[in-house]
Amino acid sequence: MSEPIIQIKQLQKTFKVYKDHKGYLGALRNLFERQYNLVHAVDKISFDVQPGELVGYIGPNGAGKSTTIKMLTGLLVPTSGEVLVNGYIPWKQRKAYVKNIGAVFGQRTTLWWDLPLRDSLDLLQHIYEIPDDTFQQNLGMFREILELDPFMETPVRSLSLGQRMRADLCAALLHNPTLVFLDEPTIGLDVVAKQRIREFIQFLNHERKTTILLTTHDISDVAKLCKRVVIIDHGKILFDGHLNSLLEFFGGRRLLVVDFAEFYPEPSLGEAEIIQQDRNKVIYSFERSSISASKLINQLSENYRIRDLEVRDQPIEDTIRRIYEEQLLYNHPNGKENPSS
Ligand SMILES: Nc1ncnc2c1ncn2[C@@H]1O[C@H](COP(=O)(O)OP(=O)(O)OP(=O)(O)O)[C@@H](O)[C@H]1O
Ligand SMILES: [Mg+2]
Repeated sequence: MSEPIIQIKQLQKTFKVYKDHKGYLGALRNLFERQYNLVHAVDKISFDVQPGELVGYIGPNGAGKSTTIKMLTGLLVPTSGEVLVNGYIPWKQRKAYVKNIGAVFGQRTTLWWDLPLRDSLDLLQHIYEIPDDTFQQNLGMFREILELDPFMETPVRSLSLGQRMRADLCAALLHNPTLVFLDEPTIGLDVVAKQRIREFIQFLNHERKTTILLTTHDISDVAKLCKRVVIIDHGKILFDGHLNSLLEFFGGRRLLVVDFAEFYPEPSLGEAEIIQQDRNKVIYSFERSSISASKLINQLSENYRIRDLEVRDQPIEDTIRRIYEEQLLYNHPNGKENPSS
């Protein structure tokens, strides 16, 4: 295996959040005694990323995703721990470092609010000292893939969210970075716009071999794009491994949807459980590992008259939601030890 492009060891960021005394007297007290809570936003995490990987970095609200990305891009200095990206310590060698990375923060733009998009991109060429031919070649390609032409002359402030996100992606990639950090690049977008961004991410990773660390709330992004996922919650890494292994372990349930030729009150079926019944239409849920779909279908046709049936996997989104909610990861072989036990 080649040398990892990102190496993170025992990385930690702790914020002091001050409590304010209220009112006039409180304001006076604030001057003399300020109490604070410590928030361990990122709590001693370690993982590596290999060149060319596309890793989904996911977790619920406030888990510590953006704080991690800010440290990896050099915007925040860690409380402790080590990071080496492309051979650089991001927050120490920031100027040289940013020449090889790109970053998109879905929540805010890196473009100049008042300038037309074209001028923003021209400015970036000078800031990053991008050679003319690279700039023209990349701009030509991104304009086409991201369909930027209709708003090249529009000030960034007037762009729609989806247009702005496409513009930001283009801006982050003009200098051919080998590594890109994407923090919620599809946030707030409609289905069509999300799809366009996903295709672009896929293009970067497949065609240009760009290494990508992708943070998202949209589990469909992860399901469609990432082989490997790292799950963080309360600042700690709960899981690091293949998405498939995660789904096989937890997504073990399948659905059997049956349309009976006549009405059967509670048509029981071995180990399968009825989860919904609407007249002749019944949905069963069963464990993939304990019984096969074909066995169940045989049993069905022996005992009942059937019009139609269909086997479905439980959607990935449901599985991951359940993993967050029930903190199931502590039982998974690749899952990390439960810090609270
Ligand atoms: N500058 C700051 N000062 C104090 N606390 C902070 C600061 N930035 C983040 N935090 C806290 O650190 C924790 C992690 O925040 P972070 O933004 O990294 O989460 P996230 O995983 O990106 O969440 P989201 O999915 O909502 O974007 C939260 O509890 C947050 O309130
Ligand atoms: Mg965030």
